[in-house]
Amino acid sequence: MMTEKTWSGRFHEPVSELVKQYTGSIDFDKRLAPWDIQGSLAHAQMLTEAGVLSADDLAAIKQGMAEILAEIKTGELPWSLDLEDVHMNIEHRLTDKIGDAGKRLHTGRSRNDQVATDIRLWLRDEISEIAHLIQAVQSALVDLADANHDVVMPGFTHMQVAQPVSFGHHMLAYVEMLGRDYERMVDCRHRVNRMPLGAAALAGTTYPINRETTAQLLGFEDICQNSLDAVSDRDFAIEFTAAASILMIHFSRLSEELIYWMSPRFAFIDIADRFCTGSSIMPQKKNPDVPELVRGKTGRVVGHLMGLITLMKSQPLAYNKDNQEDKEPLFDTVDTLIDTLRIYADMMRGVTVKPENMRAAVMQGFATATDLADYLVKKGLPFRDSHEVVARAVRHAEDMKVDLSDLPLKTLQSFSNLIDEDVYQVLTPEGSLNARNHLGGTAPAQVRAQIARWRDVLSHHQA
Ligand code: ARG
Repeated sequence: MMTEKTWSGRFHEPVSELVKQYTGSIDFDKRLAPWDIQGSLAHAQMLTEAGVLSADDLAAIKQGMAEILAEIKTGELPWSLDLEDVHMNIEHRLTDKIGDAGKRLHTGRSRNDQVATDIRLWLRDEISEIAHLIQAVQSALVDLADANHDVVMPGFTHMQVAQPVSFGHHMLAYVEMLGRDYERMVDCRHRVNRMPLGAAALAGTTYPINRETTAQLLGFEDICQNSLDAVSDRDFAIEFTAAASILMIHFSRLSEELIYWMSPRFAFIDIADRFCTGSSIMPQKKNPDVPELVRGKTGRVVGHLMGLITLMKSQPLAYNKDNQEDKEPLFDTVDTLIDTLRIYADMMRGVTVKPENMRAAVMQGFATATDLADYLVKKGLPFRDSHEVVARAVRHAEDMKVDLSDLPLKTLQSFSNLIDEDVYQVLTPEGSLNARNHLGGTAPAQVRAQIARWRDVLSHHQA
C-alpha cells in the first residue's frame, strides 16, 4: 500500500516507482530535519499570535515536534520515500501524532519558502563552525611561526631559490590567506542569514502573517524583501561555495608545499607519524597522505561551485525543482571543509622543521646575491651595474662550487673594488633576513610583531 501523496487529489494514477526515486530527496535532505522543525515551530508561533492557529494547536504542535526530534535522535523515525522529502515526512509524522493541528501547520507557507529557510538556517550554523575552525588552524600556524620566527629557509620564485626568508614569515603568509577566508565566511553569513519564510510558494500569502515576528524568533538578521526572489535564488549558496573553494585552494597550496618539503630531496620538515601512512610494498616509505588528500579534495569543492553556479543558470523565476539539486553539493562542501579544517589544525601541530637542511638549501642557491647587489648600490654603484657585477661573481662561485660567502675577499674585490671586509655581514642568510626590517618584511623582528598582532586578533574573535 502506498502512502497517499499530499497532492494526490489532482492525479488519476500514482506516480511511477522510477519517478518517485528520481524526484525524492529524503535520502539526503533528512539532514535538515532539526532546522525544518525549528522553522516550523517559529511559523506556528507566529500563526498563533496572528490568530490563525489556536493556542491548543500550538501546544500540540510543540509537543509533537519535541517527540519527533527525539525520534530522529534515536533513529526511530521511519523516513519514507513515498513522502518525498524531509518536509512532508515530518508533517506526516506530526499529523499521525496530533491529528488536525498537524494538518494546519502548513497554513500560509509552501515547501518553497520552507526549504529555502531550512537551508539558510542550517548553513548559517555551519558557517559559524567553519569560521571558528579557520581560526583554530590560524592559531596552530601562529604557534609554528612563533617557534620558528628566525629559522632561515630559501624563499622561492619560479621554484628557484630566490632570497632567504624566515620559516615563521612563510607560515604567516598562510595566516593572512586564512584571515581573508575568515572575513569572506563571516561576510557571506550576513547574506545567508535572511529569512525567505512568508514568501510562500512564490507570491506571498493571503493570511495575516507577521514576518518580523518569525524572523525574530529564528534570529534572522534580515527578511527577504521580494517573495519571488526569496524562494528562487540560491546565490547565497553559490557565494558560500565560492568562499569555500578559495579556502580549499589556499590549503592546496600549503599541502603542496608540505608534500615536497617532506620529500627526502628537500627534507625541510617532518610530519608526525599519525598523519602519514606507509606503503604496502616499499618498506622505506612514509607518505604525506593527509596533505595529498586535501589537495585532491580541493577538486571536489571547486566542482561543487561549478555545479551550483550552473544549476542557477537560466532558471526562470520563481522556484523550480532544479533547486533541489543544491543540497548534496552544499552538504559535501560543508563536510569537506569541516573535516579539512579539523585535520589541518591538528596536523600543523605535528609539523617539525629541520633548520639545518633549510639553511643548507639557502647556501646552495646564492640566495644572498640580491643582498650583495644592494650592498654595492649603497656604496654608490648604479643598480644595473651592480646587478652585472654580482652576476659575474655568482658565475665564478658556481664554477668553484662554493657560496658567495665562501669567496675570499681578494676574489670578491676582483669583481668590484667597492667591496670591503664588511661584505660578509650581508652575505649571511641571517644578515639578509635582518636587513628586511620594515612592515611586511621577513626580518625576525617583523615576524614577531606580526605574531603578536595575530595573537591579539585571534584572542578577540574567540572571546
Ligand atoms: N525537496 C524540495 C527542494 O529541495 C522542496 C521544495 C519542493 N517544492 C515543490 N514545489 N516541489 O527544493
